[in-house]
Amino acid sequence: MRKIGVLVSGRGSNLQAIMDRIADGYLPLEIAVVISDKADAFALERAARAGIKTVVAERKGCASKEEFEAKINDALTAAGCELVVLAGFMRILSGAFVNQWHHKIINIHPALLPSFPGLHGQGQAVAYGVKFSGCTVHFVDEGTDSGPIILQKVVPVLDDDTEDTLADRILVQEHIAMPEALKLWAEGKLQIDGRKVKVLA
Ligand code: GRF
Repeated sequence: MRKIGVLVSGRGSNLQAIMDRIADGYLPLEIAVVISDKADAFALERAARAGIKTVVAERKGCASKEEFEAKINDALTAAGCELVVLAGFMRILSGAFVNQWHHKIINIHPALLPSFPGLHGQGQAVAYGVKFSGCTVHFVDEGTDSGPIILQKVVPVLDDDTEDTLADRILVQEHIAMPEALKLWAEGKLQIDGRKVKVLA
């Protein structure tokens, strides 16, 4: 079974979706470690309950960003991870870290990239007045939410949506999209060609 590491910062509903799809046999993967940059992240409880190894790496406990990222890198390497999954991890990783894991980091973003990158993708979509938004699963490059796109899911934006109501609608799709992308990766079906990700049959 190919091993992945999941980086989290908060409630961990995307982590839960991955755990559930591993448990029901859809995903041929093992989560070897869950790493959080917040000691009180609920995601850590979800992982611990499922018997998954957890590591807390807090930026404030480290003298530098390099030290912080080295801690994360060490935990991933020690656990034998082949892929890093960002599931609600709220920090920007440095170019050095991204290069160490070139094409081996996958992120989920709650908007249809390249629209509305960065924080509050759902709120940005509501404020802009777009009629559709959604989520994007992509490989991470050195930019913010700018790497090659694996797949996207679309949802309507309703006239009376708030950031929260749209976020709820998008989250349902996130929980489908991330396992789908990970399955394609696990089966070796993702071929990256520059900005484009081809899904092999
Ligand atoms: C999700 O909306 C994800 O797209 C964004 O942060 C949120 C994390 O939610 N990057 P959770 O921690 O997986 O519940």
